[in-house]
Amino acid sequence: MTGTGPLPGGTAGDVPGAAGAEPYRPLPDLRSLHAAIHGDWVVHGRRLQEPAFLAMATFRFGQWAISRQHRWSRAIAGKTYGLLNVFVAGWTRVFIPPQTRIGREFHIVHCEGSISIHPAAVIGERFGVMHNVTIGTNMGPGAPVIGNDVFVGVNSCVLGAIRIGDRVRIGANTAVTTDVPDDCIAVGSPARIMPRLGPLSRGS
Ligand SMILES: CC(C)(COP(=O)(O)OP(=O)(O)OC[C@H]1O[C@@H](n2cnc3c(N)ncnc32)[C@H](O)[C@@H]1OP(=O)(O)O)[C@@H](O)C(=O)NCCC(=O)NCCS
Repeated sequence: MTGTGPLPGGTAGDVPGAAGAEPYRPLPDLRSLHAAIHGDWVVHGRRLQEPAFLAMATFRFGQWAISRQHRWSRAIAGKTYGLLNVFVAGWTRVFIPPQTRIGREFHIVHCEGSISIHPAAVIGERFGVMHNVTIGTNMGPGAPVIGNDVFVGVNSCVLGAIRIGDRVRIGANTAVTTDVPDDCIAVGSPARIMPRLGPLSRGS
């Protein structure tokens, strides 16, 4: 991956809870929580009542909760997050555990289906996702590591300990179970991987 910046919180080898790994503290203070939620609000049209924004704000609150250093503070914040998420995830059908490593500008384009992401997945910056998408394991351990500027179309799955490069487009109704290099599109089930002529430009 040639991405524009490091993946959030590390790489596939840097699995939360792995032996010797630092505790994962994605949003260590209120300032970073505020910045993350503000970013999600901007990406989702600056509308407080937008379900995608509420799902992401709840996810960020969960990230802040698991970042608490004091045991009691982490327990109280974690329980509060868990209770809140029962209602928010039940309503929005967006299931993203706070352990999932996600960069800035995660955009749920249509919050009108289900989105399910594994806690061990790592997703870069400016990720766009349609409805009815699963990013998870494939009959074994390990979840995808996804680069920057990636789009996943409606009704698609990205499964297993695979790497999706930067600027990849995954089509509608696609099942991806193998690595996809930078600047490619993956379409169909099983996915056909096609290099594009030249890099994608943002907005194309
Ligand atoms: C994958 C996608 C992003 C590709 O767009 P693109 O980069 O402009 O690529 P193209 O349209 O040039 O298609 C490239 C090839 O993939 C094929 N293809 C595109 N999307 C496909 C899909 N979902 N399934 C199977 N094949 C697909 C095209 O037929 C073409 O094949 P060919 O080269 O053999 O003719 C787009 O087709 C797509 O699936 N978008 C999903 C959008 C979505 O989820 N909308 C929901 C709205 S509610």
